[in-house]
Amino acid sequence: VGSEKINVDIMTLTRFLTEEQTKHKEATGDFTLLCHALQFSFKQIAYYIRRASLINLGGLAGSSNTTGDDQKKLDVIGNDLFIAAMRSSGRVRILVSEEEEEAIVFDEHPHARYAVACDPIDGSSNLDAGVSVGTIFAVYRLAEGSRGSKEDLLLPGSEMVAAGFTMYGASAQLVMTMRGGPVNGYTMDNALGEFILTHPDMKIPKKRSIYSCNEGNSKYWDEPVLEWCNSLKQAEKPYSARYIGSMVADAYRTLLYGGIFAYPADKKSPKGKLRILYECAPMAMVFENAGGQAINSKMDRMLTVVPEHIHDRSGIFMGSYDEVQKVIDIHKKHG
Ligand code: AHG
Ligand code: MN
Ligand code: MN
Ligand code: MN
Repeated sequence: VGSEKINVDIMTLTRFLTEEQTKHKEATGDFTLLCHALQFSFKQIAYYIRRASLINLGGLAGSSNTTGDDQKKLDVIGNDLFIAAMRSSGRVRILVSEEEEEAIVFDEHPHARYAVACDPIDGSSNLDAGVSVGTIFAVYRLAEGSRGSKEDLLLPGSEMVAAGFTMYGASAQLVMTMRGGPVNGYTMDNALGEFILTHPDMKIPKKRSIYSCNEGNSKYWDEPVLEWCNSLKQAEKPYSARYIGSMVADAYRTLLYGGIFAYPADKKSPKGKLRILYECAPMAMVFENAGGQAINSKMDRMLTVVPEHIHDRSGIFMGSYDEVQKVIDIHKKHG
């Protein structure tokens, strides 16, 4: 192999963050350091997921979290790793996690200016089968004068400064976006120990006939949702169904291939299943910045939804612009 064929000028996430920081004269470097801690937590979580079957990390922890989920051992470990990374960054004042009933306030860092919400392991019911799972994160900047309380996160998703997720699949894929900015995708190179920019400025296809939802819930669905799903199956060229049951993995595929992911509110879960702060809102920012749409079951733009409590849930439809528009149009017809 001639050296001219080797890419000697790789854009790593580390390099990308440094270059971004130097572009913004006002930047203090705090956000960059926070991102370094985020990427380190993803590397660690990926490492333990890969080794789970070898070091007895499968199965349940024997506890449950505030939203009623049975915690897997890796839910607890992922949560501990994420919290430690955020604490040690020194840049996070307050942290909300799926696995913690209350928001964690880092009083040892009273001047830290960021708030973070996270789902340490999304799709944890899939862990023991070795199916892809992920970590979801949302970053908020504290308002001037804020002293760090959960109110710093009880905001519309449009206030996030950054959001994204890492999917632990055949490789670890990190997708990240900043408010109003492009969506960039990075692939973990295990040998280099770096996330490499492999998917710059991701754009979701405008439409694609793939739908992703748990149709096992359809007996609980409302009429417009039933009509929407049926219309896809009765289309001239019927849609394909794809549902992994790890939102991160279903969302990543939807982002790359196009289509729609839905977890609507229904008679069994009138508020929906997925949680606003660390599942719906960060995904919504990724999909919107990639040119798609994300809405709740009332057809409101997901990024305008303000949670009342840190673990509040919502119905969600997200994906290709045209596919989400179909859901909106059918709901409009029902009034
Ligand atoms: P988590 O593992 O973080 O609790 O999230 C589970 C979520 C999400 O990953 C997935 O889309 C959804 O639950 C699957 O729910 P069903 O099993 O009800 O389809
Ligand atoms: Mn859970
Ligand atoms: Mn989740
Ligand atoms: Mn989770």
